[in-house]
Amino acid sequence: MTVKPTTLSTLNRYKQENKKFATITAYDASFARLFAEEGIQAMLIGDSLGMTLQGHDSTLPVTIEHIAYHTRCVRAGAPQAFLIADMPFMSYSTPEQACLNAATLMQAGANMVKIEGGSWLIPTVKMLTERAVPVCIHLGLTPQSVNVFGGYKVQGRDEQVAEQLKQDAIALEKAGAQLAVLECVPVSLAKAITDTAIMPVIGIGAGNVTDGQILVMHDLLGLTPKPPKFSKDFLQEAGTLRKAVRLYVQQVEQIQFPQEQHSFS
Ligand code: KIV
Repeated sequence: MTVKPTTLSTLNRYKQENKKFATITAYDASFARLFAEEGIQAMLIGDSLGMTLQGHDSTLPVTIEHIAYHTRCVRAGAPQAFLIADMPFMSYSTPEQACLNAATLMQAGANMVKIEGGSWLIPTVKMLTERAVPVCIHLGLTPQSVNVFGGYKVQGRDEQVAEQLKQDAIALEKAGAQLAVLECVPVSLAKAITDTAIMPVIGIGAGNVTDGQILVMHDLLGLTPKPPKFSKDFLQEAGTLRKAVRLYVQQVEQIQFPQEQHSFS
């Protein structure tokens, strides 16, 4: 059976059809292959690898070379998947720097790059998209800003911050962003942003109202010592790796995950 490549058009169609979709972080060929075989069409080579693979307590030590290496590994295992590669800390501090570093990730096999932050990224999003690099924006709890936030905290509970996040999403989409990740925000805010955005919105700790979901693979497989509230150990419930991934995909598609206990109000 030939599997067609997943593209941004696929994810846009899912949004239009109101079909929820599951995505996951992936860092190597073997897991990427298994994820693709169990129905995951889009994967993120996340800078969470700084914590999950490298054992640091934040994503800050991750470099462009690390993400490029893991993007090549994931591409080898999942040739038809839609791959989003994270731009690590300080790799997109100017639009020009972002372009050079994004080229490295696209040449490693990414279909899109992800950058964390609000309206200050407008010129960067414009420059990347004009140069044929599709951009995913990451809003809410942006882990590269952990030292500014003073910890990994829910964002957008305050009305002013919530309004700012909505305006950021609108402005960045207008600048050219074609996908958004919303992390650790109240469900009502996630719904407002998802309903307003034309681009698909993928949530993590944002309730079941977003178009797609993402989980860090180590959380899904019960490998995280202190798992976040929004995650779920699917391996414990399903018993085997394959069944765990399949269960995650099914529960997202049938809006059975995430539930209220995984969300913030
Ligand atoms: O790096 C990562 O894994 C991420 C997800 C938490 C969305 O950005």
